[in-house]
Amino acid sequence: MIIDVIILAAGKGTRMVSDLPKPLHPLLGKPLIHYVAAAAAPLTEKPPVVVLGHGSEQIRDSLGEGLRYVIQSDLLGTGHAVQQAEASLKGTSDLILIIYGDMPLVRTQTLEKLVEAQKAHSGPLTILTLMEENPRGFGRIYRDANGAIQAIVEESDATEEQLDIKELNAGMYCVESDWLWDSLAKIPVSSKGEYYLTDLVAIAAEEGASIASVTVADSRELLGINNRAHLAEAGQILRDRINQQWMLSGVSIVDPWTTYIDPDVTIGQDSVILPGTFLQGNTIIGRECLIGPGTRIFNSQVGDQCEIEYSVVEESRLEDGVDVGPFSHLRKGAHLAAGVHMGNFGEIKDSYLGEGSKMGHFSYLGNARVGKDVNIGAGTVTCNYDGQEKHPTTIKDGVFIGSDSLLIAPLEIGENATTGAGSVVTKDVPPDTVVVGVPARKIRRKDQK
Ligand code: UD1
Ligand code: CA
Repeated sequence: MIIDVIILAAGKGTRMVSDLPKPLHPLLGKPLIHYVAAAAAPLTEKPPVVVLGHGSEQIRDSLGEGLRYVIQSDLLGTGHAVQQAEASLKGTSDLILIIYGDMPLVRTQTLEKLVEAQKAHSGPLTILTLMEENPRGFGRIYRDANGAIQAIVEESDATEEQLDIKELNAGMYCVESDWLWDSLAKIPVSSKGEYYLTDLVAIAAEEGASIASVTVADSRELLGINNRAHLAEAGQILRDRINQQWMLSGVSIVDPWTTYIDPDVTIGQDSVILPGTFLQGNTIIGRECLIGPGTRIFNSQVGDQCEIEYSVVEESRLEDGVDVGPFSHLRKGAHLAAGVHMGNFGEIKDSYLGEGSKMGHFSYLGNARVGKDVNIGAGTVTCNYDGQEKHPTTIKDGVFIGSDSLLIAPLEIGENATTGAGSVVTKDVPPDTVVVGVPARKIRRKDQK
C-alpha cells in the first residue's frame, strides 16, 4: 500500500506573537517542524509533502531538500491547506496521512498505529484522539448514542454540552486518497470563513460511512504548540523523555529538572551529569565523564573520563582524560589532546594543546599550536590580533611559559625553551633557551647553567 504524508505548516501562528514563523521556533535547540518531519518520515517511502504559506522560504531553507513543498497562498484553513497538495498527489497513493506541523512530540509508533488502524478499517478515514481534562482549544469528538463518531466540533462552534466532551481531536488523520480528494471539495465554509479539515468527519458520517479512531495512551504526546507557554510545556515534556532515556542507558543525571540535553546529543555509560548543565547540538560525551555543575557544551566532542566544571565549551574537541574549569571557556576550534589540564578562567580559541599540557590559571590562547607537556603559566596571553589580522603562535614540546608572559604573534617558541615571568616575547625563541624581560631577550641556554 502506497502512503503519502502531508504536513500542514502554512498557518500564521498568530498566537506565538513572533516575527519568526511558528514551525521554526526551537524546542531544545531544534525547530518544531523538524520533529514532526522526523516522526512522519519512516511512514512513507516517498518524501513527505509540507504545505507552507507564512514564512515559506525560511522554513524551506531550514528543512532542506529531502521533502516536497507546496504553497498555500491564502490561508483559508486546514481543509484548504490539504487541497493544495492535490495536484501533486492525486492518483499517486492509496492512503494519505495528514499531520499538523505544530505537534512536535508525536511519536512515529503512534502514527504507525493510526495508519495500521486505517488499513484494517473499511471506512474512508481514521482519526487520532486523546482524552484530556484540559481541552486547550482542541476540537471535540462528537459521538452518537452508540459511540459512533459523528463530527469534530471546533471549540468556537461548540455548544455548552459539547464543550464538556473530554475526547479531543489530535489533528492527525489517515484517509483513503480517492475519498479525500473528492470530499475536500465538499467542505463548507466555517463561521470564521475557513475550510476546516475536521469537517471531513461529518461528511463521512453523513454518507453513512464509519469513522475509526485511535486514542493515544499518553496525551502528553499530543501537545499542540499554539503559544509560547505551550512551547515551554513541550520543552519540559521532551526534556523528561530525553533524560529518562539517558538514565535508563546508564548515565547518572543528578537533577533531571535542571539538566537540558538536546535530542541529538549522545552520552557514554557511567558518565555523571551534574545540575544546571546544558548539552546542546550534536555534542558527544564519552564514558565515565563528570560534567557540570553549571556547564554548557555545544556541538563538541568530549572523550572518555573528562571532567568539565562550571564552564562553556563550544565547537571544540576534548580527547580522553581532559579536565576543564571551573570557569573556563573553550571556543570554536579548541582541541585539547589527552590528559590536558585547563583550570580556572582560561579561554582557548582555534588552538591545539598537546598531550599532557597544562594551563591552570587565567590565560588566553588564540590561533596557537601547543606541543606536549607544555606548562602555560598564569596570566599568559597570546597576542594574536594586531587590529587587522590574526597571527599564529607555535609552542613546541616541553616549553615552560612563565607567569604573565605576553606572546606577540606571529611567534615560535622552540622545544624546551622557557620564558621568564612577565616577559613580553616579540621574537622567535630557539629551543632550550631562556628568555626574560620586556622585550624578552635570551639570557642563557638551558644546558649552560
Ligand atoms: C486544529 C484543529 C482542531 C485540533 C487541533 C489539534 C482544525 C479546524 N482544527 O486546531 O480540531 O484539535 O488542531 O492541534 O483543523 N494550517 C495551514 N493552513 C491554514 C490553517 C492552518 O497550513 O490555512 C496549519 C497550521 O500551520 C498548523 C495546523 O494547520 O500547523 C493547525 O492549524 P491551527 O491553526 O494551529 O489549528 P488549531 O486551532 O490548533
Ligand atoms: Ca494548533
